[in-house]
Amino acid sequence: MLAKEERERIIKSAMRVRHFAYAPYSHYQVGAALLTRSGRIFTGVNVENAAYPAGICAERTAIFKAVTAGEKDYIAMAVVTENGGTPCGSCRQVMAEFSLEMSVIVLDETGKIVLDTTVADLLPGAFGPNDLKTTSNQ
Ligand code: THU
Repeated sequence: MLAKEERERIIKSAMRVRHFAYAPYSHYQVGAALLTRSGRIFTGVNVENAAYPAGICAERTAIFKAVTAGEKDYIAMAVVTENGGTPCGSCRQVMAEFSLEMSVIVLDETGKIVLDTTVADLLPGAFGPNDLKTTSNQ
């Protein structure tokens, strides 16, 4: 179980960075904060682009920053949006690459928790690293 203190830390971090989102096209700002097992927090925001598909979601920004810092073991992620919108399919897939047990807490901009779940629940039957471990390519 995620300690109350840790939960509050990532919620605060996600709410704080959300305002740094670069979302001139959708105007939908997303802030994320990822807690690693080592106790570090990596934040992320969505970064849009005039060539729309080149943009990236807040959740993946946070995970890619953590991986870049050598951290691949995650406990929880908080995601804050205006209305408590949940992580997109691509972000669920990227989360599932690293942990199915990770807690995912989704909040609206007032700080109200609208969803408190796990990656396994967000992406049942996920295709993951083990699916590539076949006898032919080991
Ligand atoms: N967005 C995220 O950052 N995370 C999600 O899981 C859903 C969508 C961003 C992408 C885009 O910049 C904006 O929200 C509208 O889709």
